Amino acid sequence: MSMVELARVIPDQPGRPEWGEVARPMRDLTRAIALDHGAWTPERSAQITSFFDAQASSWRDRDAPERHEALLDALARGGAFPSGWCVEVGSGTGNATADLQRAFRDVVSLDLSAQMLRLATLKGRQIQSDASALPLRTGSAAVVALINMFLFPAEVSRVLADDGVLLWVSTNGDQTPIYLPPAEVVSALPGTWEGITSEAGWGTWVTARRIGR
Ligand SMILES: C[S@@+](CC[C@H](N)C(=O)[O-])C[C@H]1O[C@@H](n2cnc3c(N)ncnc32)[C@H](O)[C@@H]1O
Repeated sequence: MSMVELARVIPDQPGRPEWGEVARPMRDLTRAIALDHGAWTPERSAQITSFFDAQASSWRDRDAPERHEALLDALARGGAFPSGWCVEVGSGTGNATADLQRAFRDVVSLDLSAQMLRLATLKGRQIQSDASALPLRTGSAAVVALINMFLFPAEVSRVLADDGVLLWVSTNGDQTPIYLPPAEVVSALPGTWEGITSEAGWGTWVTARRIGR
């Protein structure tokens, strides 16, 4: 694993939400899933589905201009993206979908929660599915975008084309409940990958490209 750390160009902003210890169980789960596929059990899936179904009606209210800065910076400075499908996994109510649609011609948004998809601002292409078993052909995605979303390393690696890119964004940086440090994101992927990372506004991002199986 190698990582290029770019200097920040979008300054930090005041007002970043601080979740503190309340977010610890979600952060622990994020790390557990990244390290061990077995951590995602049917019981856990049901629990997370009902948690996010319950959050869906207020999820759009969380949107703020600062929550877009890390994604926009990653798209601008995270290296070249091949043409082809961008799969937004864990899209929620689509707070980031328009940004992805501006960057990529073909975007499909996937989420476990039917309520999140139902209340999405943009009714682009949607799939209701579990990211632990993506309903996508091996090697079929140019970009997998995970924005405040769990990393299922084997599935991300499987569906990405050889030159495909994982785009990971934590909109509140290390205060994001579903968070992993960029180096852990890249090292969790099977095979050998190289990353580019930076901070922007409230957030952190990393792009990862495969350099060996
Ligand atoms: C923290 S929210 C982020 C939503 C959106 N990306 C954003 O930043 O506003 C995480 C989303 O991932 C979805 N999610 C959680 N586990 C999932 C899984 N195993 N498969 C697909 N979606 C999942 C949730 O339903 C929720 O919509």
